[in-house]
Amino acid sequence: MVAGNWKMNKNLQEGIALATELKNNVKNPACAVVIGTPFIHLASVAEVLKGSPIQLAAENCADKDKGAYTGEVSAEMVRSTGAQYCILGHSERRAYYHETPEILKEKVGLALANGLKVIFCIGEVKEEREAGTQNAVVKAQLDGSVFHLTAEEWKNIVLAYEPVWAIGTGLTATPDQAEDMHRYIRSLVAEKYGQQVAGETTILYGGSCNEKNAAELFSNEDVDGGLIGGASLVADKFCAIIEARNNA
Ligand code: PGA
Repeated sequence: MVAGNWKMNKNLQEGIALATELKNNVKNPACAVVIGTPFIHLASVAEVLKGSPIQLAAENCADKDKGAYTGEVSAEMVRSTGAQYCILGHSERRAYYHETPEILKEKVGLALANGLKVIFCIGEVKEEREAGTQNAVVKAQLDGSVFHLTAEEWKNIVLAYEPVWAIGTGLTATPDQAEDMHRYIRSLVAEKYGQQVAGETTILYGGSCNEKNAAELFSNEDVDGGLIGGASLVADKFCAIIEARNNA
């Protein structure tokens, strides 16, 4: 899978234009392609993507079902736009909006209950990497929010390993750092759900993945694709990353 995460970029008209360009360029990808857009784009972009293999994701959803939560957008609302996925647990949401493992567990449950697949993000900050605690951090994130799911529910989970020190910084994990962590994550999934499920789980790498380094990152056995921020905002770059995945 190659998934884009537009974050808080592109107004509605610009978003529709980018989605249209992608639709015209991505006809027969050999991997799943998803774009994550702001809430307000979802319904319009879903319309643009009709008949396209590109699927659509929200970048968040509420931790409540419905009701008096001014300004929030529920998983059911996201699903009703035609989006198929929801990105949850992104480090920016954990850091700036104080999303705890408990809150994320609620969000994951609501997203799945409303028929959305979840791209669940995990990853350590720089200090944790320097202290060598990255494995424990990632394990705690999985234990806290998704490892309670049944094997049936797990089929709708995609994981994205995003070392926080690599997001938007131009610093990328080396292929070896990525592969080491991805192999570890897959071993944790195997412990929980068995070898076969672990083999079928998609584990994306995110963090300054771009059209130049994607091929090398994707050449690792346990790196199944990418979650792309900055480079997903330019159609040519995003298409080149899809191409790199197709050729890996
Ligand atoms: P980046 O963002 O590609 O701009 O580093 C990745 C992400 O946050 O998903």
